[in-house]
Amino acid sequence: MMQKDYIEDLSKHVGQEVTLRGWLYNKRSSGKIQFLILRDGTGLCQCVVMKNAVDAEMYALASSLAQESTVAITGKVQEAKGKAPGDVELFVSKIEAISTATDYPITPKEHGVEYLMEHRHLWLRSSRPWATMRVRDTIIHAIRDFFHNRGFLCFDAPILTPNAAEGTSTLFETEYFDEGMAYLSQSGQLYGEAGAMAFGKVYVFGPTFRAERSKTKRHLNEFWMVEPEVAFLDLEGDMELAEDFVHEVIGRVLKEREAELAILDDGTGTLKARCEKVLKPFMRMHYDEAAKILDKYWDEKLASGEELPPTFKRFEYGDDFGAYDEVALTSLYDQPVIVHHYPASVKAFYMKRDPNEPDKALAMDVLFPEFGEIIGGSVREDSLDVLLKRLEEHNLPQSIFEWYLDLRRYGSVPHAGFGLGLERLVMWVCGLEHIREAIPFPRTLTRIWP
Ligand code: 4AD
Ligand code: MG
Repeated sequence: MMQKDYIEDLSKHVGQEVTLRGWLYNKRSSGKIQFLILRDGTGLCQCVVMKNAVDAEMYALASSLAQESTVAITGKVQEAKGKAPGDVELFVSKIEAISTATDYPITPKEHGVEYLMEHRHLWLRSSRPWATMRVRDTIIHAIRDFFHNRGFLCFDAPILTPNAAEGTSTLFETEYFDEGMAYLSQSGQLYGEAGAMAFGKVYVFGPTFRAERSKTKRHLNEFWMVEPEVAFLDLEGDMELAEDFVHEVIGRVLKEREAELAILDDGTGTLKARCEKVLKPFMRMHYDEAAKILDKYWDEKLASGEELPPTFKRFEYGDDFGAYDEVALTSLYDQPVIVHHYPASVKAFYMKRDPNEPDKALAMDVLFPEFGEIIGGSVREDSLDVLLKRLEEHNLPQSIFEWYLDLRRYGSVPHAGFGLGLERLVMWVCGLEHIREAIPFPRTLTRIWP
């Protein structure tokens, strides 16, 4: 049994008879007529059951069906402009119950997010998660298309790794037979670098893990990251690639998922308008300039007496930006901002320093309006001697990185790349309050179920 008719295609079948199979999403009735709202995963369809158009048994079945019961409904598609979802409805001639459900835990009334998260396996059927996952799907396809169309090789990095990539404090570890400890990958980048040396341009796209005890709205312990890595690329080229990439991916969402954005912003058009403002070129700012702007910003905020959250920490020159700083900085513009040349001391061991500003890394972050970091990237250190020194400074054991050091021993080239957190982008595009809603089954400090 393969489904033939889907709700999202119904407008092409006006006047024809179709059979839909799906779940009862909602219903209302008024005497001699019942409106069953059916969902089949591709959309919602209003199915009109007239008492005088079906037999009594079928009419009784329609009125007895409870939310999320599964049914096959046959009827004629008719236009219903402005009256029904998708501007079409089904004039029902036949209803068959496939499975009946009773007391579905998620009713059309308001539930708290904690309750909904506890029922995430069911909540995914509701309209907001549904719209979000469809946007996410489009973003994933657009990401793959962007790189594929530019000749990048899709290069899968391992999940179980012998070493840390992004610092040793946030590693999930597990015993690995007789080989010692293995760690869940924090980033595929180091393997991506081996890929770039073999194939020129590659992208790694897979799940990554951070054992962070952080409870912010922007952190997951398991998230998806896409990481291009390119041989013979400098910082300028890296920023251009990031900008083209983000611009194109958001363009695809605008083209394919306008209806989903409208579900997510209750038809106000704010999400669409915000996405349309992501235009090239993005603003670019040296860390020193961003630091000056932030200094002034916080001076004024503190002087105004405005109360700041207890977790607030005043930025000082040389610090990495915290979430408050990123939100503050980007709230001044309605465009993404690329901040580059961060202090090397707050960045990862593999980042190359600028020979003209040796205390700064050839690093860049793409910060989104009123949100913050979506992308982090850099030029990689390509000198064997310097890299050995960095490993030592970061207390990382050379032996485990020998394979990575080989990339500098044999045919080392200037190269760069970046990582984009998929859920951060989904969160921003969909205007979500919390990143946990940007992935089907979030893993956070306090949640591993369902
Ligand atoms: O800035 P990060 O840590 O950079 C890297 O991992 C590099 N190896 C990337 C590279 O150059 N290939 O992470 C990159 C991005 C961040 O900008 C953010 O969007 C996302 O990954 N990210 C997270 N998303 C959700 N939850 C977390 N805990 C995240 N940590 C990073
Ligand atoms: Mg970062």
